[in-house]
Amino acid sequence: MTQPQPIIIDCDPGIDDAIALMLAFASPDELEVLAVMTVAGNVGLHHTEPNARRIRDLCGAKSVPVLAGCPRPVLRAPVDAGDIHGESGLENCELPLARGVVDPRHAVDYLRETVRARPREITVVAVGPLTNLATTLIQRPEFAREVRRIVIMGGAAGDGNVTPHAEFNFFADPHAARIVFESGAPISMYGLDITRQVRAEAAWLKRVERLGSPVAHTAVRMLEHYGSVGGALHDVLAIGDLLRQDCFTLEPCRVRIETEDPEMIGKSHVERGVAPDRANARVGFKADAPEFLSFLEERLARYS
Ligand code: BDR
Ligand code: CA
Repeated sequence: MTQPQPIIIDCDPGIDDAIALMLAFASPDELEVLAVMTVAGNVGLHHTEPNARRIRDLCGAKSVPVLAGCPRPVLRAPVDAGDIHGESGLENCELPLARGVVDPRHAVDYLRETVRARPREITVVAVGPLTNLATTLIQRPEFAREVRRIVIMGGAAGDGNVTPHAEFNFFADPHAARIVFESGAPISMYGLDITRQVRAEAAWLKRVERLGSPVAHTAVRMLEHYGSVGGALHDVLAIGDLLRQDCFTLEPCRVRIETEDPEMIGKSHVERGVAPDRANARVGFKADAPEFLSFLEERLARYS
């Protein structure tokens, strides 16, 4: 049997982040979650860090460390998405508040040293603003060659969701996104073009509710209040990439992040059909939504 692949998840829970964590923790044969890092994004770090612990504990993954990272973007003033995810970041979540001790290590120190110690072994799944990754790359540019791959939820070749041009994670920290895309690290990008194809519609939520576990119940309660029913499962696709790549079609592209033009700030300019040596990312364009949603349901059914 093959060994599970070691991953580090960098997130800002956030409702779709929480479902992404549930999927990762339900997949121990394929994924070894070394740590969950948190960053300011959907809500402040004082919420995203304890939210990650709440979900980790619910999933029975207490031995996985949760680490707080950067509390603000590289340059621009913080923006949040509390209108979608609720003031706490996990709207309608009935879980108790996080208990226990906060891990004193900074997420960036952990990431830099863990990846340095195991070159080309560890995949990072980044589903919030890219501040922690950019800070790591500033401290240690070699990280770009040491990391096995970075799977990102962020950006869009087409329309944005915060402005007509920009997607939330790249809009929240465009300078960080630019540093990451210019680093030379191997990147897979799941932007809105593909994540909007996979939605938590009412019929699917009913099926998940019938699973009857506290995890399934929590997922459904939160997703019912995630913008509105039928919300895109954005971050879940980035974990899905590591488990069911056959559900997703990606293409080599050249991606450039806009940091100058105030109207376009945070936009990802995606050039398709480029020669292999010009590509700096593989970008997702097509998802097999029914297949992936059945798979996600099966994995959520593993929780009792
Ligand atoms: C992204 O922004 C956040 O609100 C979600 O958690 C996701 O990471 C979608 O644009
Ligand atoms: Ca997120």
